[in-house]
Amino acid sequence: MDLPADFLWGTATSAHQVEGGNTNNDWWDFEHHPTSAAQTSSGDGIDHFHRYSDDFALLRSLGHNAHRLSIEWSRIEPAPGEFSRTAIAHYRRVLTALAGTGMTAFVTLHHFTLPRWFAARGGWLAPDAIDLFTRYCAHVTAELGSLMPYICTLNEPQMIALHGYLEGYHPPGLTNPVLWRRVGSVLLDAHLAAVPAIRAAGGAQIGLAVQLPVLAPARDDDACRSLHRLMRYEIVDRYLDNLAGPDGGDWLGVQYYRKQWVDPASPTWFGEPPTGTPLTQMGWAVHPDGLREMLHRAAATGLPLYVTENGIATTDDTERITYLTTHLAALAQACAEGVDVRGYLHWSAFDNFEWSEGYRPRFGLISVDDSFARLPKPSAHVFARIARTGQLQETPR
Ligand code: BGC
Repeated sequence: MDLPADFLWGTATSAHQVEGGNTNNDWWDFEHHPTSAAQTSSGDGIDHFHRYSDDFALLRSLGHNAHRLSIEWSRIEPAPGEFSRTAIAHYRRVLTALAGTGMTAFVTLHHFTLPRWFAARGGWLAPDAIDLFTRYCAHVTAELGSLMPYICTLNEPQMIALHGYLEGYHPPGLTNPVLWRRVGSVLLDAHLAAVPAIRAAGGAQIGLAVQLPVLAPARDDDACRSLHRLMRYEIVDRYLDNLAGPDGGDWLGVQYYRKQWVDPASPTWFGEPPTGTPLTQMGWAVHPDGLREMLHRAAATGLPLYVTENGIATTDDTERITYLTTHLAALAQACAEGVDVRGYLHWSAFDNFEWSEGYRPRFGLISVDDSFARLPKPSAHVFARIARTGQLQETPR
């Protein structure tokens, strides 16, 4: 199974997970709060803030023709309405270096972290949250738009709402079903408001990145079926059903990791995977055909699709190669079945800061040692061969 010659191949990262020194956002506070779920400080990250140029050159040398990264809002707007010229200059250098490699940039404007001041005034629940977000989006686009061929407004609004407001292991650390649903709705509105604001500021191709797990009821009973319907609405349908009309954007980012079983008897509302299911370092159930299934679901929006994240946390790189090749086969099958998928960005380029889990989970194609030296794993070379040829059949180790 082959993919088109103009297919985009690369990896994804986010600012807080790789840059280091992001001390002015809500995550930094969460990491340093004695009772939060976060296990360690993001600290110096993998020092991508200073090493971006070498990192891009390495990714390019591995055959990638695209790369996804995020801009850190708390650096751009350290206080309300106060925009940092040095932060803009930094990201201009970053995006210029990326363009210089020939890789196509996917730039996420908000990937989980909020400026401390924005979180302190109520975060997404403040009455003017959407106005403040769109002002930031417009500012970044006006300054850097020519360097951002693909702009992603928000990363995984559903996971911001779920992890932060229902499960409580991301900031603000709440477990409140009412606020969970309200924030989900606000975040959809934030995307829909950001699209015209970014267009007016001269933005090019605008999209949203959604995580689309395969959701199944844990048992065949009324309670499971009804919670499953609610979860499917809040995590999948609320977003996909509202992107189809004008103006939901120009493309959709599909992020796929796993299958989950909805279970009202579990305190988290998600049950354990059935015995025997292969699990990752995160305890996530591996289910490659789910990528094909969710690409079909996402295609109902009518938007061109890019897989903007897909990957596995594992210390066994052979397992990563299997995960990668089986998921790419599922993607290729979806394409063969008529789904318009135009690129695949693996999560992640490097082992990095995995939010509340700290640095333990290893999602990278490339490892990073204590001196910040980068070392491509065998999976990076397998991916390089696929990216260079577009051919999936042969994946020699
Ligand atoms: C997020 C990433 C995260 C990855 C693995 C996605 O939910 O966008 O920031 O590291 O999944 O958990």
